[in-house]
Amino acid sequence: MSALFSPFSLKDVTLRNRIAVPPMCQYSATDGLTNDWHQAHYAGLARGGAGLVIVEATAVAPEGRISPGCLGLWNDEQAAGLARIAAAIKAGGAVPGIQIGHAGRKASANRPWEGDDHIPEGDPRAWHILGPSAIAFGANLPRVPTAMSRDDIARVRSDFAAAARRARDAGFEWLELHFAHGYLAQSFFSVHANQRDDEYGGGYAGRSRFLLETLAAVRAEWPERLPLTARFGVIEYDGRDAETLAESIELTRAFRAGGLDLLNVSVGFSIPDTQIPWGPAFLAPLAERVKREAGLPVASSWGIDAPATANQVVADGQMDLVMVGRAHLANPHWPYQAALQLGEQRPSWVLPAPYAHWLEKYRPNR
Ligand SMILES: Cc1cc2nc3c(=O)[nH]c(=O)nc-3n(C[C@H](O)[C@H](O)[C@H](O)COP(=O)(O)O)c2cc1C
Repeated sequence: MSALFSPFSLKDVTLRNRIAVPPMCQYSATDGLTNDWHQAHYAGLARGGAGLVIVEATAVAPEGRISPGCLGLWNDEQAAGLARIAAAIKAGGAVPGIQIGHAGRKASANRPWEGDDHIPEGDPRAWHILGPSAIAFGANLPRVPTAMSRDDIARVRSDFAAAARRARDAGFEWLELHFAHGYLAQSFFSVHANQRDDEYGGGYAGRSRFLLETLAAVRAEWPERLPLTARFGVIEYDGRDAETLAESIELTRAFRAGGLDLLNVSVGFSIPDTQIPWGPAFLAPLAERVKREAGLPVASSWGIDAPATANQVVADGQMDLVMVGRAHLANPHWPYQAALQLGEQRPSWVLPAPYAHWLEKYRPNR
């Protein structure tokens, strides 16, 4: 059996293989509620064979949505819809995960296919945005956030905890905190976004505080037996990468001490002007470094769509889990195709039994 199709256990959860579908916003919700599209989308992905399907960035508070179409988990009606999504993912044989987050100064934006820019202030669809400091991201997201008060910080921290509680009760078995991609948590850590002069800013300890306190608040709610993970941008590609990486590894060690079980290694995206070396599996060496130096299991994504590459990064110990995003949108049965390409003896058994039985001897496109 190839490394990619070996099971992976974390806490009391076992994934049927090392393939995960990373969170991918659908921008298709109203008032943060799931609908038939989310049901169809997630059911299809789970049935395709991945071990883990993580539901898209789901906001812990209304102002934490990236766009008006983002999912939310700040009320019980939203939780009831998400419980049906978790059940559909489980029915497909995958473990249901969810990413919870707060978009901070990148919130209140148009959907990507409708401009991907801030909804202008004064537009009835826009809302008030928050950040660590009154500093805009820039480029397509020019609005200046309100610098959060200590009360705002305490409120968002407890919103994260409440969302984790609702996710647990909705049947999710894997939680990912969205600490990446220039959203609220990442921007507290970023020297570009955080210029506070209180205990939530300044040096490494101050800039880490919001993330560590949020982790602690969630840890108290999320069951010990289930994986608690975070996605975090360990690097910005902004010319000060050695410093950022050293701090990120330090913070990952602190996450581990605070009860985190796995880090989904990503990019910070805290400023618009960066030199990101896009390419197949370009984050794999960094994921491996974080794993080795921080002693925490890791997952990562970006440009891993060839089955051989996905298998290699697991076989080489660079990643415990491979997140395959856009390739799953192109082909929800990507895991089955990967099993065929990697020469698995019984590739069809990647799929649920009602499909597997019939595909055992049938090979499409032969
Ligand atoms: C449509 C779309 C929506 C995304 N939404 C999220 C999200 O909600 N949370 C997140 O952390 N990353 C998000 N991402 C990033 C993906 O999780 C993934 O890291 C990225 O697509 C790179 O992996 P890939 O090269 O396999 O597609 C999104 C990407 C896409 C294409």
